[in-house]
Amino acid sequence: MNKKINAAVFPVAGLGSRFLPATKATPKEMLPIVDKPLIQYAVEEAVEAGIKKMIFVTGRNKRAIEDHFDSAYELEAELALKEKHDLLAIAHSVAPKGVDFVYVRQSTALGLGHAILCAKPALSDEPFAVLLVDDLIKSSKGAVQQLIMATDGSDRPIIGLEKIQPYQTRAYGVISIRESMGQYVIASDLVEKPKAEDAPSNLGVVGRYILPYEIFDVIEQLPSGSGGEIQLTDALAVLARRDGVIGVLLEGRRFDCGSKLGFAQANIEYGLEHPEIGENLKSYLKKLIV
Ligand code: G1P
Repeated sequence: MNKKINAAVFPVAGLGSRFLPATKATPKEMLPIVDKPLIQYAVEEAVEAGIKKMIFVTGRNKRAIEDHFDSAYELEAELALKEKHDLLAIAHSVAPKGVDFVYVRQSTALGLGHAILCAKPALSDEPFAVLLVDDLIKSSKGAVQQLIMATDGSDRPIIGLEKIQPYQTRAYGVISIRESMGQYVIASDLVEKPKAEDAPSNLGVVGRYILPYEIFDVIEQLPSGSGGEIQLTDALAVLARRDGVIGVLLEGRRFDCGSKLGFAQANIEYGLEHPEIGENLKSYLKKLIV
């Protein structure tokens, strides 16, 4: 039976320095893919998976995220006055009813494992989802939902995976495969950002996780790992060596929106499907290529 997951953690404290100057005063999570900020795609994916509590691990200069999921009084009053009901409905839909938004601060950037540890006081003793907002996954079935469908009654973590090329290993957590059953894999170990020659497989971790609450005991004991940071991958490796970690080869297309190329590709692909601009963008691109 699929486990009910009630909370999702979004680590959003990162500086976004790869996107300077755009991110000098704007959180990278607020950069839009067509007309919607990246963070909203991730929240919508969690809502679609039945999650009702969104916990943002945030930092300095990230106020815009909190404002985005709050009401915007002047804007809404203005739209109501001008009877722009469609736009008002869009503004209202950003924070769906019945969903709670919680913000905790990560005051020092000590890595992804540390960011998740900052969310501990906002969580109860049950499994929770983690979504890395940079990884935008376009799929008919949401990635978190795909992970939830892999729950097997055990407390093993569940992680999203995709096939990667040797030149990409330095950017990913990479798993050791114990068993493989179609789309599902049991990982017996993980390593963060190995060299191609040291990578134990061609399966890289994508930024979607379902973690048991016990992961906090492991993170609290971890020494710093790759890049001097407290790595979530290292905590997962401890649990993988103990009982295994469930991996799901995700369906759909993933865009690495932490890179400029991935971000531009996402804007094109989402733009082509956008009801307002899709057709015009398609003919524009055709002309451009000819
Ligand atoms: C993080 C994780 C890494 C994972 C990647 C997926 O790295 O540490 O294990 O493969 O996300 O996007 P980052 O991209 O934040 O450096």
